[in-house]
Amino acid sequence: MAKRDGFGSSFGVLVAMAGSAVGLGNLWRFPYLVGTNGGAAFIIIYLFFVLLLALPIMYAEFIIGRRSQANVFGAYKALAPNTKWGYVGIIFLMASVTIISFYSVVGGWTIDYLFKALTLQFDSSDPQVLSGMFNKVVTSDIEPVCFMLIFLGATAFILLSGVKEGIEKYAKVMMPLLFLIVLFIAVRAVTLPGAGAGLEFLFKPDFSKVTAGTFLAALGQAFFSLSVGAGTIMTYASYVAKRESIIGLSVQTALSDTLFAIIAGLAIMPAVFAFGISPGEGPGLVFITLPNIFAQLPFGYVLAIIFFLALFIAAITSSISMVEVIVAYLNEEFGLGRRWAILLSMTVIAIFGTLCSLSQGALKEFTIFGNNIFDCFDKFSANILLPLGGLSAVIFVGWRMAKSDCVDEITSGGVRKYPAFVVNFIYLSIKYLAPLVVAVVLVQGLL
Ligand code: PHE
Repeated sequence: MAKRDGFGSSFGVLVAMAGSAVGLGNLWRFPYLVGTNGGAAFIIIYLFFVLLLALPIMYAEFIIGRRSQANVFGAYKALAPNTKWGYVGIIFLMASVTIISFYSVVGGWTIDYLFKALTLQFDSSDPQVLSGMFNKVVTSDIEPVCFMLIFLGATAFILLSGVKEGIEKYAKVMMPLLFLIVLFIAVRAVTLPGAGAGLEFLFKPDFSKVTAGTFLAALGQAFFSLSVGAGTIMTYASYVAKRESIIGLSVQTALSDTLFAIIAGLAIMPAVFAFGISPGEGPGLVFITLPNIFAQLPFGYVLAIIFFLALFIAAITSSISMVEVIVAYLNEEFGLGRRWAILLSMTVIAIFGTLCSLSQGALKEFTIFGNNIFDCFDKFSANILLPLGGLSAVIFVGWRMAKSDCVDEITSGGVRKYPAFVVNFIYLSIKYLAPLVVAVVLVQGLL
């Protein structure tokens, strides 16, 4: 059998993992959820879930992926042969397909906006005009579908080169660049006159606005932003060498993701308040707010270009990670060559993606419980599929795998020494804490 592709260096693994985690979830979804869920209180609950839940689940996915060295179906089949555990892979596949379907639509918007920035179309600083521009983009029929296809094409292009030569190589260049751009924009935004109200909204909690729905939204966002529950970490982990530290990589990934979310909040919220835009604007928030700032700043057109470039980079490094889950599955379970696996995945995604894209235009009358297709895909994946996927991973590691195998992975075969209480704490958080919290929030949020 041909040697399996894999990551080449520790830095490569880290940027690929961080590339998957840091994405539209941080720069697009996080700010508008903070805006619609009351600000700082939502952020505190979110951080709580990152530590309590997303991190243990990340360890669990890491353990399953690296130990089995296989795709999301193969992993369970390898670790629990002749059982029905393999079917759990369906949750991960569904989660990845559902997310990438609407994600690629937003990815398409970022390319559209990058073009608009390059052709100097943000000359108005009137929020009304810019919000009209956003509505026109998302409610058109042809344009957003075309941009979505370009986005998927770019994703396919990177994936064609494989793990080491594709995913890793691009992440190594793009992630440091992304960090510099977002930091730069945030510094510019917090020094705007009138930025104070935005900072207060981000950091001064008002718990009176918190409801059961806030918890579910924060849970969904913690999963979504850290890429847990979709089999992405599991798939990437299957390409990671035994010597790498699972704890180190997980903590670093979670930290960089959180840092990016906070910096994104700092880049966006002050401007929302400084320019009198409503923080509850919804999914258009980033696309309406930032062009507004750019129109009012000297050399704003340059800032607009680099910002939408950053948004595109953030989106594509995440998008490749979702599609890799599907590609690895088709490749290993059906023996499909990588090219064919990519082509087949892209065709399926393009069909669902078109439905999501049209759901704000031609198909807007078609709703389920008051949500259009795009929103259904978004909520169903983040608030249900990801928590279910995560739950299955922690239950598998905590209750089905031998503790010694689990510890063997955490310590990289005994090479990495941690105090016993650290290892025990991690194990117990996988076995009891994470499953309990996910179950409670899921049940409570859905009732
Ligand atoms: N974490 C990515 C983001 O924040 C989205 C994602 C979710 C990627 C699930 C992979 C799996 O944009």
